[in-house]
Amino acid sequence: MIIGSNLIFRENVASTNTEASLMLNQGEVAEGTVIQAGFQSAGRGQKGNRWESVKGKNLLLSIILYPWSVKPEEQFIINMALSLGVCDFTGKMTQGSSIKWPNDIYVKDDKIAGILIENSIMADRIESTIAGIGLNINQEEFPGNLRNPVSMKMITGREHDLQQCLTVLLSALDKRYRQLLYGDREEIHDEYRSRLYRFNELSAFRSGEKVFEGTITDVSVSGFITIRDKQQHEHRFSFKEVDFVTSPGSSR
Ligand code: BTN
Repeated sequence: MIIGSNLIFRENVASTNTEASLMLNQGEVAEGTVIQAGFQSAGRGQKGNRWESVKGKNLLLSIILYPWSVKPEEQFIINMALSLGVCDFTGKMTQGSSIKWPNDIYVKDDKIAGILIENSIMADRIESTIAGIGLNINQEEFPGNLRNPVSMKMITGREHDLQQCLTVLLSALDKRYRQLLYGDREEIHDEYRSRLYRFNELSAFRSGEKVFEGTITDVSVSGFITIRDKQQHEHRFSFKEVDFVTSPGSSR
């Protein structure tokens, strides 16, 4: 077991990703160390957003990894492997789990987990990875500005034991991480594609001011998404350059 071999619990931190980064700055940290928090006062999400979570209701954690065999130009394979790990976990308890590119975990059309991966790159290698995961377990009410949050409790109708969920989640992540280090990467890539939210389905997208319809045909290990428009032209976008357009009245 790599992930979860060393578990640190903090009642209250600013952000577990920030905490992990401070630990790395202070010296050697064992690979697979997990920093879990009961509450974050400054939880961070993608695109500079905040990640808010009611105290003691959800899983908030960061994992420190040293993915020695992954080259910086293929670093998105780390996101793929860990997204699959979280999706394996949600898939065990719910139906309709998928990964919304780049690495949100959805159940049907709602977001149950977010992942914030921060790689530290030195010259031509990844020195360390901090993988932050926020997974909604028992929270039932969310701030109104969020588009489509959901939790395990809202889906299953019952309370879940956080520590039990943590054990199952870490084991799923560990399996995927070992597959990344020692197994077949093409399999990770294929599975990521096959679990992708709205893969090969006609959807509306927005890129800057432009709204267009197209289908997702691929995501590369460098993290680019390929969308084929109705004229059969393929366009590649990086994260931040494109997003789904949500239809009026939908929960998204
Ligand atoms: C997203 O925007 O979807 C990513 C959210 C990631 C949130 C988690 S919670 C634990 C870890 N610590 C943070 O500050 N962020 C990540």
